[in-house]
Amino acid sequence: MALAVVACAPIASAADFGSAPQLYQQYCASCHGKTGNGNGPVGTFLTPRPRDFADCKVMKQITDKTLFDAIKNGGASVGVSPNMPAWGSSLNDQQIQQMVKYLRQFCPETASK
Ligand code: HEC
Repeated sequence: MALAVVACAPIASAADFGSAPQLYQQYCASCHGKTGNGNGPVGTFLTPRPRDFADCKVMKQITDKTLFDAIKNGGASVGVSPNMPAWGSSLNDQQIQQMVKYLRQFCPETASK
């Protein structure tokens, strides 16, 4: 029994992200970069640069709700660049919540407990 729990643990944490890692590479990496640092091939042409999710000082200041709203309703809705598109028609709320968790793993210490 204990063995089964141990064996399942990594799978359970991957499930928290759902399909966020794949969706991130599909929709977000072109701007935010494959490793979340804001240096995607499109992102380098934007001013301001897309959010660097690995910049922990900045990420610490941003609440999960703001991350959620930015993804769902676009950058302008939270007062950042309107070049950040709204994804509410491509991603449902559960996928956006999983995406927020996934973005937090670029700076694990900023994740809300
Ligand atoms: C066309 C380029 C582009 C794409 C594609 C893109 N973003 Fe962004 N994103 C931006 C820009 C630009 C900003 C704003 C940076 C700023 O104003 O400082 C931003 C900001 C953000 C923020 C931060 C909001 C805040 O309060 O600081 C989050 C979260 C975010 N993007 C998530 C995502 C996710 C998730 C995806 C994919 C579903 C995505 N972005 C796709 C360009 C993009």
